[in-house]
Amino acid sequence: MSDPQAEAHLSKLEVLERKNQEALLGGGQARIDAQHKKGKLTARERVDLLLDEGSFEEIGKFVMHRSKDFGLDKEYYLGDGVITGYGTVNGRLVYVFSQDFTVFGGSLSETHAEKIVKIMDLAMKNGAPVIGLNDSGGARIQEGVVSLGGYADIFYKNTLASGVVPQLSAIMGPCAGGAVYSPAITDFILMVEDTSYMFVTGPNVVKTVTHENVTSEELGGASTHSTKSGVTHFSCANEVACINHLKQLLSYMPQNCEETAPAVPYEAGNEERPALDNIIPENPNQPYDIREVIEGIIDADSFLEVHQNFAENIVVGFARLGGRSIGIVGNQPAVLAGVLDINASTKAARFVRFCDSFNIPLLVLEDVPGFLPGTDQEWRGIITNGAKLLYAFCEATVPRITVITRKAYGGAYDVMNSKHIGADMNYAWPTAEIAVMGAKGAAEIIFKREIAAAADPEAKLQEKVDEYQQKFATPYRAAHRGFVDEVILPSQTRQKLIRAFKMLENKVDTMPRKKHGNIPL
Ligand code: HXC
Repeated sequence: MSDPQAEAHLSKLEVLERKNQEALLGGGQARIDAQHKKGKLTARERVDLLLDEGSFEEIGKFVMHRSKDFGLDKEYYLGDGVITGYGTVNGRLVYVFSQDFTVFGGSLSETHAEKIVKIMDLAMKNGAPVIGLNDSGGARIQEGVVSLGGYADIFYKNTLASGVVPQLSAIMGPCAGGAVYSPAITDFILMVEDTSYMFVTGPNVVKTVTHENVTSEELGGASTHSTKSGVTHFSCANEVACINHLKQLLSYMPQNCEETAPAVPYEAGNEERPALDNIIPENPNQPYDIREVIEGIIDADSFLEVHQNFAENIVVGFARLGGRSIGIVGNQPAVLAGVLDINASTKAARFVRFCDSFNIPLLVLEDVPGFLPGTDQEWRGIITNGAKLLYAFCEATVPRITVITRKAYGGAYDVMNSKHIGADMNYAWPTAEIAVMGAKGAAEIIFKREIAAAADPEAKLQEKVDEYQQKFATPYRAAHRGFVDEVILPSQTRQKLIRAFKMLENKVDTMPRKKHGNIPL
């Protein structure tokens, strides 16, 4: 705690030294020990882990709160519960704030908020990502409305910064009440298992209102938000893993919306991948793992999956192809046959919009039997939610390529980055089936009378299914029309994509002039 009386007897240099030491100690050694005992790092240790050694420049180290109510006139800590500044991650500039739980539980005061807003302003003006390391008891209760105002100032900046610079939020402790909305507006959320949670209202309020008994972990822990709600994009085993994930994630992104992501060195070699020729099963209803296709196409070990355990019927993530950063969206036949449902649509739509905001080209791997039927989906709004994905692809102006590996049925054919909605290159494997629906369903509808009148309706149905299959369960009708640019061997896919993305690297495309579109939220 800052002590002006003790400072009165010191030289000016000694005062500075003393203040520097004091700022380093946050809320004091006992609270630091308590933080460690919970299995958590301190705010400073996190910053040190995140940034390149010696690169951190702190801003606002001596800021103190202004409030005087409820004993705050007797308790001051330099920095006021948040460490802010800039540094580099793998040599690239980032701005960072790290909430210090040892000072008033990392709670957000007016001045704490001002420090965060200051680095966000700098980040926007200088075009570099903002990383928030969140560990906070929420609004500083003693401050009342000024701390709520501080939150709102941050939400406003988050929104202004959205699409200008990447914003990443690591949740490394409590994050409750309205405080959750700042991370929610940012581009990616990472949570630490067992030591972090996010909820709008905690277990006590939940019990009062809905009579449910639930723990903090069940209500808003990393596992809940990475599987059930999709609020978090990554669930990390511990804080070190979380910070490593942050660094990896940054490596796929540009610094801001005016730049492209950094490329890693790539030397062209033999790009044939014969194993891909054997991935699609003979039986069109047999599942396979789209991740095997992804791994077969991209540069070795370059896939960083996002939302790995949420809406697993679609796989999204970053990868490198020929050294360049791309975003991948792939239907996953191994889960729910790769069908599009509400969660899959919103998951992929958000990812597509991130990639488009930050000039990351998109690769779509398509094997989709359609949208998921049923009252659950219809009543919860598959129409509006499916439209989000459609809209996201339609408005994306980055290079966009689709490879249809197997099924491309119905509306899902249109939605999954078809030529008609602006894809630049559309490839199909010989196993592609591009049709309004599956052959059996189609035959049952269009040959209903003929089948009913047949002496052997079963045999007639099969005959019609075979006929439909012959005609439509191929990529060639689409290729004859130019909806598919080329039918390619799976083993050639990597080579084709490297060349096509290179061909598209200077793509310029613009949307009609408007204030902003109205994505169906
Ligand atoms: C002021 C706070 C605080 C807060 C914690 N502290 N939260 N001080 N304002 N919001 C202080 C505690 O008094 C304590 O001080 C120290 O931080 C550590 O807290 P503990 O309770 O000892 O830690 P722990 O047992 O780990 O529990 C952590 C916690 C709990 C679960 C976060 O502190 C808690 O429930 N805090 C209140 C959460 C809350 O209701 N916040 C407001 C939410 S509403 P000492 O001096 O004893 O070490 C909100 C609205 C935002 O945030 C709206 C935005 C639109």
